[in-house]
Amino acid sequence: MIHLLLLLAARVLAQDRTTEAGEASITDQTLECTIYSYPPVVAALNTFPPIWQPVMSVPTNDTVGRAKFLAMNASIPNIPPKGTLTGDFSNFTPTYNTADPDCWWTFHQCVTPKLSGLSMDIANVPEPRTLGFGFDDGPNCSHNAFYDYLAEQEQKATMFFIGSNVMDWPLEAQRAVSDGHEICVHTWSHRYMTAFPNEGAFGELYYTLQAIKLVTGVTPTCWRPPFGDVDDRIRYIASQLGLETILWQYNSNDWEVGLNGVTTDTVQANYDALAANVSAGLFDGAGVIMLTHELNNYTMQTMIDNYPKLATAFDHLVPIAVAQNKTQPYVETNYTFQTFASYIANHTTKPSLNGSSGSGSSSGSGSQTTGTGSGSAGAVSGSTGLVAALALVLGAVALGL
Ligand SMILES: *[C@@H]1O[C@H](CO)[C@@H](O)[C@H](O)[C@H]1NC(C)=O
Ligand SMILES: *[C@@H]1O[C@H](CO)[C@@H](O)[C@H](O)[C@H]1NC(C)=O
Ligand SMILES: *[C@@H]1O[C@H](CO)[C@@H](O)[C@H](O)[C@H]1NC(C)=O
Ligand SMILES: *[C@@H]1O[C@H](CO)[C@@H](O)[C@H](O)[C@H]1NC(C)=O
Ligand SMILES: *[C@@H]1O[C@H](CO)[C@@H](O)[C@H](O)[C@H]1NC(C)=O
Ligand SMILES: *[C@@H]1O[C@H](CO)[C@@H](O)[C@H](O)[C@H]1NC(C)=O
Ligand SMILES: *[C@@H]1O[C@H](CO)[C@@H](O)[C@H](O)[C@H]1NC(C)=O
Ligand SMILES: [Zn+2]
Repeated sequence: MIHLLLLLAARVLAQDRTTEAGEASITDQTLECTIYSYPPVVAALNTFPPIWQPVMSVPTNDTVGRAKFLAMNASIPNIPPKGTLTGDFSNFTPTYNTADPDCWWTFHQCVTPKLSGLSMDIANVPEPRTLGFGFDDGPNCSHNAFYDYLAEQEQKATMFFIGSNVMDWPLEAQRAVSDGHEICVHTWSHRYMTAFPNEGAFGELYYTLQAIKLVTGVTPTCWRPPFGDVDDRIRYIASQLGLETILWQYNSNDWEVGLNGVTTDTVQANYDALAANVSAGLFDGAGVIMLTHELNNYTMQTMIDNYPKLATAFDHLVPIAVAQNKTQPYVETNYTFQTFASYIANHTTKPSLNGSSGSGSSSGSGSQTTGTGSGSAGAVSGSTGLVAALALVLGAVALGL
């Protein structure tokens, strides 16, 4: 038995979990979902808030972060926090001015700030018959199958990453950048932002920016509030950190299956309605953003299953920055995106629907095999359950570091 365990241990260790490419080659879902330790993150842990804990303040020993907060503190609009971090607004809403002076999205989906100097939220995309293609809550398990699929389709997307997930799954975050996706901020601990005090709201965004920079080398210029919960106070803090606020018009409800009466049928109906609405001409004037998630196997697989339908219904599926012609998506100037015109010129092939041959009208470069590495993935084979159990033990050991 010991012998067998040692053999299995050797196999697990044979999987390279220290590089982006090594991690990207993992096809075993259980291994992929087993925590690993990444030295640059371990070394920086004491400069970050505890993972998954709401950020309430910026410690005095973070001199750079504090100076940044203090520089904006005096000008933050005087709007009191609302409700609780878990989204209980029952004590707040009854006394809130129904004219919605704070442009609080959660109240009536306000996207046009009342405070002067703030730009409108991005809730749709300007290009007609175009889907602003994006996913919230990553990176997490099931990442590789999803990103492999997007790579096969030569499809880029906007990924709204949670800072705590970036710290837990740094190589997955790196893959997003090296695959050419756009990275935006989705806060540190995924709580309701309008409930935070100013310093906490600042910290939720600031430390997510720092985490993404630490792990990927880039600094995003966009963010999406969890649950859409934003008002002019939070918009102001985000704008001072150089972040554009991105929302959505339609909700796939993919995150909500099993809650509030939402079923997989509800989600499929939402996907179907989106595709039908393109055909019905609803997006002939301007394109659309639907809320979808990089949350778990179900949400990602559902997008994969619906991708051919969406790619056929819409004229274009593009990252949100591309729909905006935002060619410099990050603070670092050495990384550029294509303009909308240039992106669509290079992405003309439609995927094949249900295995039938594609309707690609021009210059098909469709069937490129992308670098989804096969070699070392073979390290995990057979007796997956045992390997998984062992991997969990090793993971726990790694965590103890
Ligand atoms: C900063 O102070 C906190 C306690 O407030 C401590 O946990 C952390 O290790 C310190 N960070 C550094 C970089 O010294
Ligand atoms: C931020 O500004 C407010 C007044 O606008 C002040 O009461 C508060 O003490 C300031 N916070 C810090 C940390 O200086
Ligand atoms: C979801 O799980 C199924 C069954 O294990 C697997 O075939 C599929 O590739 C997974 N999808 C994703 C996106 O991970
Ligand atoms: C851009 O520059 C940063 C350092 O500022 C570096 O970490 C990164 O690798 C560079 N990226 C590219 C795509 O050249
Ligand atoms: C589709 O259009 C209908 C009619 O305007 C609307 O009620 C529905 O919310 C839309 N759904 C999606 C996902 O676009
Ligand atoms: C990550 O994915 C796993 C497996 O689907 C799930 O159990 C877990 O809740 C997810 N974690 C987060 C933080 O979303
Ligand atoms: C993007 O650029 C094209 C010209 O290349 C222009 O027609 C289009 O209106 C621009 N879109 C936005 C949102 O700026
Ligand atoms: Zn979210």
